[in-house]
Amino acid sequence: MTETSTRTPYGTLPAAAPLPPRKPISLPRLNEMRARGEKIAMLTAYDATFAAVADHAGVDCLLVGDSLGMVCQGRPSTVGVTLEQMCYHTESVVRGVRRVQGTVWIIGDLPFGSYQESREQAMRSAAALLQAGAHMVKLEGGGWTVETVRFLVERGVPVCAHLGLTPQTVHAIGGYRVQGRNDAEAQQLRRDALALQDAGASMLVLEMVPAALAADITQQLPRCHTIGIGSGRGTAGQVLVMHDMLGIHLGKTPRFVRNFMEGAASVRDAMAAYVAAVKDGSFPDDRQHAW
Ligand code: KIV
Repeated sequence: MTETSTRTPYGTLPAAAPLPPRKPISLPRLNEMRARGEKIAMLTAYDATFAAVADHAGVDCLLVGDSLGMVCQGRPSTVGVTLEQMCYHTESVVRGVRRVQGTVWIIGDLPFGSYQESREQAMRSAAALLQAGAHMVKLEGGGWTVETVRFLVERGVPVCAHLGLTPQTVHAIGGYRVQGRNDAEAQQLRRDALALQDAGASMLVLEMVPAALAADITQQLPRCHTIGIGSGRGTAGQVLVMHDMLGIHLGKTPRFVRNFMEGAASVRDAMAAYVAAVKDGSFPDDRQHAW
């Protein structure tokens, strides 16, 4: 493609090589990073331009999260997001990353109602996200999801699980609150995490789990990389909702968020600062950002 043919009148996505040049992120690459103690830096993304900028800034993984229900659609929760909408946003993210010859690992979120009925329904929904260009799918919960994860993994679908605060079941768990604070909840989280690793999940988001518990679960999961959000610095990687880490919201900043736009000259610089802070262990700070 010539440079002229990639120019558009709206925004610019140059066909540039990522800086610094890096090999495409893959599951073996993520395993290597973990083995040498390098933290995984993940952000959410929902559109082509921000996805391309995040790739350029050195973000390892982009999650096309159903948090788009809140940040893009203005909903009170993620529950109303559909599979069609997830495919649309995944395609947009993938297009942006491809336009800049990006190397980031892309995870598509299975929305509420797209995998709960049966393992076959989950497989059909996962196929739709992979056909939209995602490399991996994410689903929420433990217990019954273990057999769904096994079914998908056996069929060649890389799976990221999600425990702790699971926003799709916010009504059942009684609000957005820290999970695993008492012994019974903590034991259940440990059991679910081990069962998900055993079923083949290669990544696990731990959301709003006490830092000590998240660090302990991470040590017990050598084959499944924990990605924390509000779960302290002891996980294998971190994720934040992009709008939050860019300070784009009107309400109260969640405790686990740092605004990386403060002191940054551009969105790209803010994302690069996030990557650097995750990798050098300065974000999150357990005294400020965790429980
Ligand atoms: O939907 C999402 O963005 C998520 C992250 C907050 C982990 O699940």
